[in-house]
Amino acid sequence: MGSNWTAPKIAKHKVSDGETPLVMLTAYDAPGAHMVVEAGTDIILVGDSLAMVVLGYEDTLQVTIDDMAHHTAAVARAEPDAFIVADLPWMSYHVSTEETVKNAAKLIRAGAKAVKLEGGQDRVRMVEAIASAEIPVMGHLGLTPQSVLSLGGYKVQGRTTNAAVKLSYEAKALAHAGCFAIVLECVPSLVGKMITDSLSIPTIGIGAGPDCDGQVLVFHDLLGIYQELQPKYVRTYANLKESTITALSAFNNDVRDKNFPTEEESYKISAEEAEELGLYGAPLPVSEDPLASW
Ligand code: KIV
Repeated sequence: MGSNWTAPKIAKHKVSDGETPLVMLTAYDAPGAHMVVEAGTDIILVGDSLAMVVLGYEDTLQVTIDDMAHHTAAVARAEPDAFIVADLPWMSYHVSTEETVKNAAKLIRAGAKAVKLEGGQDRVRMVEAIASAEIPVMGHLGLTPQSVLSLGGYKVQGRTTNAAVKLSYEAKALAHAGCFAIVLECVPSLVGKMITDSLSIPTIGIGAGPDCDGQVLVFHDLLGIYQELQPKYVRTYANLKESTITALSAFNNDVRDKNFPTEEESYKISAEEAEELGLYGAPLPVSEDPLASW
């Protein structure tokens, strides 16, 4: 298949121009990508939330560029009819522009159509370097989970006038450096609106209020699979953790009660073959043992 979305097309997509909000969802493997696309999603984000919701780490700092490329390739193999963005993980774009561009290229070669990185003014040089290698870049501002140690936790950002103005300035700097869209995470709705109104590229919000040009949620949060952190902006549309445990328990009980497998769930051989195998009482003739010559 392949998607109709391109980075230049997304870059022009503004709700203020009458467009429908963009929908972005995370996926980390082929079955997830299939489901996300069948639901009609515009953009798949292979997020570094992978670290927490799939790989069992405490934060996103533990995933590597190779982990991200591995999961991006799995998503791309589903040939989803959606635009694939892959996260550059922590320390893959902090050291040098050369290393940054090579790491971005690794994700593109794995199947992404764009990369995302976190941070504002400090990342402008890296955004410019990636964009000048012809790789579309999505920015990410506000609560940037890769900064959890320096921020001192997962906290709402941009709550003071100074912080909101700084965020707005950083969003403009990212757009000017070449970002085609910006994720705004965990900022007051009014700040989300102020930044969205000030940019010609779209904002995609997560905990940034209803006025962004799109919304994103994490697959495992929306489906109630990952329940360790439950910020108020996560709307859970299903409790798949509970229904999965119920289904798995039913299987366990069926095995233990000898209710699984049934005749219908088992393969058969003909009565003659069974007779020959001695399964009706007659012993297998030694001379006809097919394993005798092994
Ligand atoms: O890694 C991720 O899933 C993200 C989203 C929360 C935007 O960056």
